[in-house]
Amino acid sequence: MDIGNFLKVIHRQKGDNAVKKRYQRRVISCGKIEVSEGEEDMSRVRQFIKDFFAPFYALDEFFISQYLTEEEMHYFQKLRRAERLHAIEVAKLTEATLKAIPEKKITEKRIHSIMKAVLLHDIGKSRHALGPFRKTFMVLFKGTLKKPGSILAKTKAGDIYLNHPAYGRDLLEALDTFPEDPYLYDLVLWHHEPEKFLEKYKGLQETVFRAFRKADDLN
Ligand SMILES: [Fe+2]
Repeated sequence: MDIGNFLKVIHRQKGDNAVKKRYQRRVISCGKIEVSEGEEDMSRVRQFIKDFFAPFYALDEFFISQYLTEEEMHYFQKLRRAERLHAIEVAKLTEATLKAIPEKKITEKRIHSIMKAVLLHDIGKSRHALGPFRKTFMVLFKGTLKKPGSILAKTKAGDIYLNHPAYGRDLLEALDTFPEDPYLYDLVLWHHEPEKFLEKYKGLQETVFRAFRKADDLN
């Protein structure tokens, strides 16, 4: 993606100037929309720090209310504040990135479903709260955690760390969240296993997934 094009399109876009300015720099860094393991690990460090400062950040209730139904909101509110803040940041950056891709026109209706998916991608964690220390512990021992028969995987924290994407997909399917865009169930299911999603989906769905993953890594 040509960065100059990104800029031109962002400037042409109508909308909230403050939001535009804030996300412009980050949208550019999404230009290549490639995801690396290293970035994912770095984002864990950032998330750990942000976790402590979560009470000092305002939650953009208006943004969430534009996309989630009352039922979806019920589960969203069960997430820890830091996770809700993270989901909102990822959704806003994904939205800005997708709207800035000139050759991939995505309709407002499609963006609406994508925003739901991004806001709810970690909704499986609403089953059981996982604080910053336990989350970091799981990241440090993820190798052990993924070994067959791991005792750590049988703990509540281990179970949520490993299986929250599947729990999230099951919940959203039960709520019938994406009747017209069923690929978004797979986006939630495979948000930590990009190779599986990218093997199954190409074209616009691949672009959506890459934009979301990049935004997730940057937050
Ligand atoms: Fe996740």
